[in-house]
Amino acid sequence: MINIRGMRESDTAEASRIFRLAFGTFLGLPDPNSFSAGREYIATRFHADPGAALVAETDGKLVGSNLVTIWGSFGTFGPLTTRPEFWDKGVGSALLGPTIDLFDQRGVREAGLFTFVQSPKHLALYQKFGFWPGFLIGVAAKPVAKAAPWIRHSPSAAAECPALTNSIFEGLSLSVEINSVEAQGLGETVLVTGGMAICHCGERTEAGPGTCYIKFACAQGPREFQRLLEACEGLAFDRGLTRLETGVNFERIEAYQALMANGCRVERQALAMHRNGLRAYNRRDVYALDDWR
Ligand SMILES: CC(C)(COP(=O)(O)OP(=O)(O)OC[C@H]1O[C@@H](n2cnc3c(N)ncnc32)[C@H](O)[C@@H]1OP(=O)(O)O)[C@@H](O)C(=O)NCCC(=O)NCCS
Repeated sequence: MINIRGMRESDTAEASRIFRLAFGTFLGLPDPNSFSAGREYIATRFHADPGAALVAETDGKLVGSNLVTIWGSFGTFGPLTTRPEFWDKGVGSALLGPTIDLFDQRGVREAGLFTFVQSPKHLALYQKFGFWPGFLIGVAAKPVAKAAPWIRHSPSAAAECPALTNSIFEGLSLSVEINSVEAQGLGETVLVTGGMAICHCGERTEAGPGTCYIKFACAQGPREFQRLLEACEGLAFDRGLTRLETGVNFERIEAYQALMANGCRVERQALAMHRNGLRAYNRRDVYALDDWR
């Protein structure tokens, strides 16, 4: 029997081990456990919102986990992983039921996810729960070249971020990520007039060694977006990081084109799937960066 319960801090090490093994096995890595070395997802997401982290057990043994992310009225989840010897035995599905319940309990209006575009299994699994294929997502990066001024998020600016996110999708709130970056020392939230970016920096964050990862950014328009990208590169430069990484849904074509014009290259593509086919803030003129990984 599969039992789903809330994750505890004492589960994070084993959940993290299963996460690396599952992805490393799926991708056919020679050493599956080396997947995403130097990057941390499980413990950091657990600490960001402990009530939204789930594990699956059979006979008292941890066999899978899922981390649910609630950004106000929008939700996403992942990494969803199960032990390879339990694949196709219903563990992933068992974790997805309570994931959807969490969305409903927390007032999530629309939800989306990032998955492997080449995998019919992933499509079929998520379709069972009402997620349908949308556009592709590009994971893009560039070398860090130059210094630039940037301003750190402060309590006095606290009202600006909700106003910005609300303007691209009603009720979208990134406060859980801003607080998590600050409380766990994962990086910085960078501000410019009319723009904000939540960045993870370096090892043991979602960025990994040498990288500054823009986990979420949004700006009012093209000029603010340009200043924001320069400010994020400035943060990376000051931290001695050599690579700036982010993700963008290709439906946000103006933001994608601006990334390319700034020297970013797409390193890989994934598929966005949307609950009930509703595309949230994936529109051509939305200057937002994230990849829902
Ligand atoms: C993806 C993953 C979480 C799924 O977990 P799981 O425990 O195997 O999931 P389940 O057994 O509940 O469901 C798998 C479903 O896919 C179906 N399936 C398997 N191969 C398939 C294929 N080629 N085409 C269509 N459906 C397929 C199974 O029949 C099952 O559906 P059913 O319950 O209706 O029979 C797991 O395989 C994993 O950890 N993979 C590596 C990490 C990963 O890719 N995570 C997700 C990233 S988005």
